[in-house]
Amino acid sequence: MTTIRSEMLNAMQGLTPKAEARFPGAKWSLENRKKSDRVVLEWPAIAQSFRRILNRYGAVKTHVDALGFEGTSNMWIAAQELVKTLPSMDSLRGEGDRAEDDLTAHCVHADAALIATDHADILRWGLNDRLLDLVEQYLETPPACIGVALRKDSPDGQQVGTRLWHVDGEDTNVFKVLVYLNDVGEKNGPFEYVPKDCFNPRRRRWSFRYHWFWRYFCKDQDIAKLVPKSQWEAATGPAGTAVLVDTTSVFHHGAIAQEGERLVLIFAYTSQNPKDMELCKKFFPRADLLPALGATLSPRQRDCLLHWRGLRAEQSLAS
Ligand SMILES: [Fe+2]
Repeated sequence: MTTIRSEMLNAMQGLTPKAEARFPGAKWSLENRKKSDRVVLEWPAIAQSFRRILNRYGAVKTHVDALGFEGTSNMWIAAQELVKTLPSMDSLRGEGDRAEDDLTAHCVHADAALIATDHADILRWGLNDRLLDLVEQYLETPPACIGVALRKDSPDGQQVGTRLWHVDGEDTNVFKVLVYLNDVGEKNGPFEYVPKDCFNPRRRRWSFRYHWFWRYFCKDQDIAKLVPKSQWEAATGPAGTAVLVDTTSVFHHGAIAQEGERLVLIFAYTSQNPKDMELCKKFFPRADLLPALGATLSPRQRDCLLHWRGLRAEQSLAS
């Protein structure tokens, strides 16, 4: 029986007229035909089928250029500037083994204050209407943007922090958009996940082992007891690759980087009344600087970025 996934791949390869009709706009980059990481799902196909794909597999990969969101070039320039401000990886080296429960021990983060002030085009991209439409369509409720993070992973070979397999828990659904800022191959520590369809829904509901793994952070050898490695999906791709994922619906982690580096922007969204408000607020530690952006935001963007946190735009305070 033809699956949605095979139809989608056929559509992207331009092999099946029926599939092409079902996923219009899907495109295969001919010059890189043998490289699966060059598959690009274009905007019309994303808009029409991403929700169905996410519900079935938990994640979908595309490219920022294919999405065609407003402000993409400004976001990209701001992100490249922000990368220059990242702390040196030397600050992570030479410290020996790191605690597994330190979720950020394996990477350096850009200063959230700089994202809210000097490089706010990154945040604005995360609030463009087309993206908010997508998120709202998936969450079935107006979204909250809980923040943006820029991370650089160290190739230190240690499986700690969010390199351990886990499922996010900030809300019933957490929609994330990961944007790679450099080429990310198998050895750069790509985002890796277990597609939802690897589990039979009935077995998943009644499996003690499945629920045990669902609650804890696990190493590769542990999750392999639940799902063989051959079924894990590594989201590799060139700079600009974007992964749209519901991180509450799939086991996922950042694979252990072996060489080079992985630079990634992570945009995160929940409902405006999330299950764990405090955890959501921790995602962006300099929320105190966000009201200054209020004057440049639409009412919808203010709801999404500020109001659910109990913040008001500075313009509103002054009036
Ligand atoms: Fe996560």
